[in-house]
Amino acid sequence: MTSVSDRTVNLPIWRVKFFEDLKRSVQLEGKKVLEIGCGDGAIAKLVARQTNPQFVYGIDPYSYAIYPIYEEEKLMCLNLNADNLLFPNSYFDVIFSHNVFEHILDLPQAWQEIKRVLKPGGIFYTHFAPLWTHAYGHHYYDETDESFSCIIPPYGHLYMKPEQINQLLKANTTLPEDQKKAIRFIFGDVCNKMFPSEYRKVFLSNDDFKIEEYLEIKQHHHNRPIPQEVFEKYPSVPKEDFEISGITVKGVKLSQTEPESESLKELYRFYAYYTESQNKKLLRRLSIKLKSIFSG
Ligand SMILES: C[S@@+](CC[C@H](N)C(=O)[O-])C[C@H]1O[C@@H](n2cnc3c(N)ncnc32)[C@H](O)[C@@H]1O
Repeated sequence: MTSVSDRTVNLPIWRVKFFEDLKRSVQLEGKKVLEIGCGDGAIAKLVARQTNPQFVYGIDPYSYAIYPIYEEEKLMCLNLNADNLLFPNSYFDVIFSHNVFEHILDLPQAWQEIKRVLKPGGIFYTHFAPLWTHAYGHHYYDETDESFSCIIPPYGHLYMKPEQINQLLKANTTLPEDQKKAIRFIFGDVCNKMFPSEYRKVFLSNDDFKIEEYLEIKQHHHNRPIPQEVFEKYPSVPKEDFEISGITVKGVKLSQTEPESESLKELYRFYAYYTESQNKKLLRRLSIKLKSIFSG
């Protein structure tokens, strides 16, 4: 088990499990590592503190946790979107990510970026849940109730009309926050609404990337029968798509990426120099510079 003596790291069990799997599957010692969608940086911190990497970067586009910049020895988190990574080509030995790919809206573009910044021979490792096709993809259930009772039926978000869902929520909810959460998941852009067969298309058809492991996990402790209405609404989608609750991908980058343009190289030199200097004052200046780049 991971040492949990470090109380500044937020460690729910699924993060610990992912960290253990990552350590078992990928050599991290001495490596330059990137985490995509690091959130509050908890897993990136574990990697930085416990695996002796060369350096760890975490990126996440939302500012709630890491804005403007999170830094400590061997770790730096930045507000960046996976579909536009501000790093040079072939920069990282390892790129990993946990429970993020179901949220990335332009996944094909993010995947191009990930492959661009990964070195030839570099390793990519991720685990995520294809939320949208899941029985509870609507995110409207009572987590404290073992039977997972819910107002919107399992798979309801996939086949019910928006008016029907709204009606159910309005009639039943006593918790407006929960209602907002469900509405954001069902009607908003919190998740990309991709199907497992679409993820397969992204990850499994690359000339420049060799997949070593592609695992689709079917068991789920709240598994429910799939209503006929789902198959009627999505006649061309394979039945298995609605049974998959987790996807693990591991692979290796094969080919060399195209050389950079001169202006980008200049920016990257600046970036690499300041981030690797480990000098807090310089890092602060970098943060200001990055903010001006992204806000402009
Ligand atoms: C469920 S959280 C997972 C956070 C963290 N990886 C963990 O395991 O605790 C999903 C994260 O994906 C991030 N995210 C969403 N869209 C993203 C994108 N386009 N690029 C990078 N991260 C993204 C969100 O901001 C959020 O922090």
